[in-house]
Amino acid sequence: MAFTIDSMLTLNNGLEMPRFGLGVFRTEVGIETENAVRWALEAGYRAVDTAALYGNEAEVGKIVRSGLVPRENVFVTSKVWVNNLSYEGTKAAFEDSMERLGMDYVDLYLIHWPVNDWQGSWRALEEIYRTGRAKAIGVSNFLQHHLEALLDMAEVPPAVNQIEYHPYLQQPDLRTFCRDHNIALTAWAPIMKGRVLDVPVLNEIGEKYGKTAVHVTLRWMLQTDVITIPKSAHKERIYSNAEIFDFELSDDDIEAINALDCNDRIGPHPDHFGE
Ligand SMILES: NC(=O)c1ccc[n+]([C@@H]2O[C@H](COP(=O)([O-])OP(=O)(O)OC[C@H]3O[C@@H](n4cnc5c(N)ncnc54)[C@H](OP(=O)(O)O)[C@@H]3O)[C@@H](O)[C@H]2O)c1
Repeated sequence: MAFTIDSMLTLNNGLEMPRFGLGVFRTEVGIETENAVRWALEAGYRAVDTAALYGNEAEVGKIVRSGLVPRENVFVTSKVWVNNLSYEGTKAAFEDSMERLGMDYVDLYLIHWPVNDWQGSWRALEEIYRTGRAKAIGVSNFLQHHLEALLDMAEVPPAVNQIEYHPYLQQPDLRTFCRDHNIALTAWAPIMKGRVLDVPVLNEIGEKYGKTAVHVTLRWMLQTDVITIPKSAHKERIYSNAEIFDFELSDDDIEAINALDCNDRIGPHPDHFGE
């Protein structure tokens, strides 16, 4: 193994979560997901982000359980999809996910979008958390007003909010709110689905360090306490995307990337999901 990625962030319940991992949204069911997860583990990744929606929990589970890396050294996240957002629906969906993963616990379990009866769903997550079958629980795509409502009712506060986050969509107010309430931020679409390679400022910064715009973007997240889970189904990219632990951005670089924010969203706005 060329390197080991062991940089961890401590969540609000004390659990250590790798700051860097593999996303598998739209990684095809079957051999494509099996290969991607295997290559990632071989490359040193120690976190995989899946979801019931992605249809590939079984493949993720198969490779994580394969013994390539001890199960306890791999951080597995899954999510309950919107059709199961109710107390009973989420309890059943969790059992189905665990069955597909073939695991007796998941490291992090998230509500995928703040729609339907997500409050009932949170009660189910709290119950699951208390059994130890999810080591941490959290949410995804929650805006500040959703988080305020959740914090009002929660007996267990969310450990993570996974949101669309990249140089063009930084949501500084939501970030500050999460930081102030000890909720870790995970970035989805961190490399703007590959489009960061078209951003001149990121390429210029990369040239100084012999790195690509993808590396610069992921390193910016590492240095600013945002967990990141870039997706690739290609071996070379999976290896390459992880080469972010051998250089450091300057304060000026960080400022220049912060200045790229233009509130440009790729995915749905959480207040208009499904419309
Ligand atoms: N919670 C949510 O609602 C939500 C929504 C979306 C995503 N997510 C999670 O976040 C993860 C990451 O987000 P994402 O997959 O949407 O977007 P992303 O990671 O920003 O981008 C993935 C895309 O970039 C390409 N890519 C990867 N590495 C590259 C490189 N070095 N050079 C050029 N292109 C590269 C990939 O293509 P190849 O695969 O062909 O290499 C893929 O098309 C997902 O996989 C999923 O786990 C969560």
